[in-house]
Parts: sequence; C-alpha cells; structure tokens
Amino acid sequence: MEDNSKNLSILIVDDDPAIRHVCSAILKKNYTDVRTFDNGLDALSYIRNNNTDIVLVDLKMPGISGHELIGRIAELNKDIVIMVITAYASIENAIEAMQKGASDFLPKPFTPDELRFAIKKAADKRELILQRTRALEEKREMEENYLSFVSHQLKSPLFAAQQLLYLLEEGDYKINEDVLSIIKRANRRISEAAKLVNEWLLVSRFEKSGFSQDFAETDIVPLINSELERHHEQIAAKGINVVLDIPRSVRLETDPSAFSMMISNLISNAVKYNVEDGKLLIRINEEAESTRIEVEDTGIGIKKEYIPRLFSKFFRIRDEKTKNIEGTGLGLAIIKKIIDEHSGSIEVASEEGKGTRFTVILPKRHPKPAVTGENN
Ligand SMILES: Nc1ncnc2c1ncn2[C@@H]1O[C@H](COP(=O)(O)OP(=O)(O)OP(=O)(O)O)[C@@H](O)[C@H]1O
Ligand SMILES: [Mg+2]
Repeated sequence: MEDNSKNLSILIVDDDPAIRHVCSAILKKNYTDVRTFDNGLDALSYIRNNNTDIVLVDLKMPGISGHELIGRIAELNKDIVIMVITAYASIENAIEAMQKGASDFLPKPFTPDELRFAIKKAADKRELILQRTRALEEKREMEENYLSFVSHQLKSPLFAAQQLLYLLEEGDYKINEDVLSIIKRANRRISEAAKLVNEWLLVSRFEKSGFSQDFAETDIVPLINSELERHHEQIAAKGINVVLDIPRSVRLETDPSAFSMMISNLISNAVKYNVEDGKLLIRINEEAESTRIEVEDTGIGIKKEYIPRLFSKFFRIRDEKTKNIEGTGLGLAIIKKIIDEHSGSIEVASEEGKGTRFTVILPKRHPKPAVTGENN
C-alpha cells in the first residue's frame, strides 16, 4: 500500500497536557495532520465539520467523559477509528469502550513504539473501511446508472411510437373518426406505460440509493420559486392564490435536487387537493438550528384516521372528493424519505373541508450520516 496514510487526520483528546504534547510530537514525525483537544466537546465540534480518520480518546476527562465521547463520535460517523488511551485499563472499561464504538485500547503509560504500532494498526483499519465504502459507492453508482439506462431504453421507443401516433392524429391523412378514436386510445395507453416506467424508476431509487446524495449549503428560496413556476399551469387552471411568507434568502445544508423534489410534491398536493380559487401558503421560519417550512392549503382536508398512513408508499385516499384526482400515492412517501435523509421531521395538521398544513423541519446543518455500508 503506498503511503496515503501520511495524510490521515488524527486527533488526540486528553486533558493531560503532557500526554497531548508527547503523543502529538511522536505522531507528527509520520503524519501531517495531527491535532490535540483538551476536552470532548471541542473534539466533537471539530469532527462534525472536518474529515477525521483516527481519534485517540482518554477515558477520564472533565466535561463529557471519554466513554460518552466515543459513543457520540460513533453516532456521527461509525467509520472513524477510535482508540482508547487510558491509565484505567480495566476489563470493564475496555468492554464499555468497545461497546460504544472504540476499536483498540492502549494502556498508559506507553512507549513511542507502542503508540506508533497502535496507530499503524488503526491506519490499516481505517484504510480497509475507506476501501469498503468506496466499493459500495461504486456499486450504488452502477446500479443507479443501470436504472437510468433501462428506463431510458424503455421510454425512447414509447415516445417514438407516441410521436408517430400524434403524426397520424394531426397530419392530413383523412382518417375517419373511428380510427382517430382508436389512435387516441393507443396514445393514452402509451402515456400510461411511460408513466409506469417513471414510477418504477422512482421506486427503485427509493429502495436502492435514496434521493439525497450531495449535501451543500444552499439558498432554498430560489428552489421554491422555481418549483412554483413549474406548477404554474395547474395553479392558474385552478385559480389558486399563492401567498409566500418567506425571507429573501434561507440557507441550509441540503441536497438541492432532493429538496426540490420534496417541495414539488408538497406544492403538487396543495394544488391537487385544493378547491377552486383556494389558497396555497408557503411560510418559512428560521430557528437557531433548524428551518420550519409550512405548506398550507385551503383544500379538501384529510380525515384523522388516514393521517398515520399518509406516508406509506402507494397510499391514496379514495372517496368522492378524490376519485377524479390522478396520482400514484408515492409523493408523500418520497417526501418522508427525503426528510429522513436530512434528519428532519414532518408534521401534518388537517381539518376536513377546511385545509391541510404540512410542516417540514430541517436542521440547518446536515448531521454527517453514520456511513454504515452494511445496509445492503
Ligand atoms: N394537501 C393535501 N390535502 C388533502 N389530501 C392530501 C393532501 N396531500 C396528500 N393528501 C392525501 O394523501 C394521499 C397521498 O398523497 P401522495 O402525495 O403520497 O400521493 P398522490 O398525490 O395521490 O400521488 P403522487 O403524489 O404520487 O402523484 C393523496 O392521495 C391524498 O388522498
Ligand atoms: Mg402527491
């Protein structure tokens, strides 16, 4: 293995200045990115915002204990290799640390060689984890490409056939009414097939890779505006009055295309299940750590008994009011999945005949997911 390990980011968390000094002096000879922290909270905030490979944790520290720190690092990212350095190397301590997520234990006092050897082991382990994560990522990408490829291959001939039928319908072919109605029916069936392919693609994505991959700090206001623009026709056709109560700019860490998909589905519902000349209100309130986005309509509302099932795939309410409204029942399931991927939450308040309000709460900063790599 050529020496990538030189660039590993290594943190030493210990309240004892002598240990911090000695460990960092030893490790800096072989590694370029070695940092020290005298308490767990500072280390955690560093890890939250920076790539970290290996953390050495002292167990007995003021503030949050080493055990707690280990648990919280593992929660943030269970691929970080955590090693305990402690003068209290009891079996109980070791077991608890391992259960929380530590992978090795180095009793104090240790010699420079012992430290170097332990770090070498940790570095090898980290490299294996990174390789596995990369392999899984490649596999996911291949599957994703395959899905897009197949759906594209299925859709192209359908669209081509549809174009030909349009040509028959619109062209100057002196087709009689009976044949024309058959052509129209054939065209509708093709549209249904194309829609099915799109839905299949969505459901497969749902199962395989989720929707949110590239989180970046983003202003969501333009995303909301362009989704409103995209629904302009339906909004105008129903005479819906759109009211926006949102700041000029709202920044949060999100995957922009997943965010747009979520807002698009909420807007689509607020229009579809609204009444003629109804109102659609989008309101945003920024809080210290999170952003509340409300999408409210003055539509048909939802019976209480249905609310727990709304977010299930393919669930649709079938009654007099909804029987002529088209949909597949995927929208809210997708919304929920995207919100989960953002570690956010969604609430529903609805009154039959009055309207519905969906409130989405997203953290401003996306907590780095614990990349497990084991969920397939
Ligand atoms: N704003 C709303 N007002 C009233 N009912 C709603 C609203 N949003 C969703 N629903 C109900 O919840 C069901 C599920 O919504 P969802 O968005 O998942 O699917 P859909 O709109 O039927 O289809 P799709 O979004 O896949 O085109 C809807 O069929 C509808 O009965
Ligand atoms: Mg919908």
